[in-house]
Amino acid sequence: MKLFVANWKMHKTRGEAREFGEELGRRMVVGGGGEIVVAPPFTALDAARDGRGRWSLACQNVSDEPEGALTGEISARMAADAGCRWAIVGHSERRRVFREGTEVLAKKLARCREAELTPIFCVGETAEERDAGLTATTLVRQVEALAADPAALPLVVAYEPVWAIGTGRSATAEDAGAARVHIAQLLSDRRDLRILYGGSVTPGNAPALLSGSGMDGFLVGGASLSAASFWAIASA
Ligand code: PGA
Repeated sequence: MKLFVANWKMHKTRGEAREFGEELGRRMVVGGGGEIVVAPPFTALDAARDGRGRWSLACQNVSDEPEGALTGEISARMAADAGCRWAIVGHSERRRVFREGTEVLAKKLARCREAELTPIFCVGETAEERDAGLTATTLVRQVEALAADPAALPLVVAYEPVWAIGTGRSATAEDAGAARVHIAQLLSDRRDLRILYGGSVTPGNAPALLSGSGMDGFLVGGASLSAASFWAIASA
């Protein structure tokens, strides 16, 4: 089954999250669609929960420490306790704005496993890396954070080229497909691996991107803020 993840980033109050859930629920009555995951901000986890279990919850980040004197941080165990089954780890905004690199991301992955959260681990090259022909090298470097992550456990990797995120310029199905093949080769020891594409996915480009790239689904940012457009993507 294809997997569609709504990454709301720093958007939506609890009221807005509830409205989204009601609207998504109404649209799901029609049927279709794959497995649905919603990643709200921590404050809206409860409001975004579906009492009928038609979608599950992800958090967008976890601390690299299990607990302690870290004002403002949220642990993987807390996120699991708040209802999350998944955790986005290593989103490019975390890598860029919060300077998260291989070492800290490896620790976050370990915290997720301790809390039984399935990581949605993000990789992807910047425009500069792409222009310099370093896409493959970048992916090799980024998956190093997974070196100690147990290969038998389910894992989701999201290929999100940084130049495609929030720019309205998605990768081509060919480029996404090539990245998928490369990631699958790098992680050929994994027993339960799903690879998603993310970066300017819209209801318009989703069907061709999905079928042309062979991806297992999408991580959707901007177009996931509306239940109508997110469902249009997930049910296409
Ligand atoms: P976008 O974001 O769909 O708005 O490009 C994707 C992401 O950052 O996960």
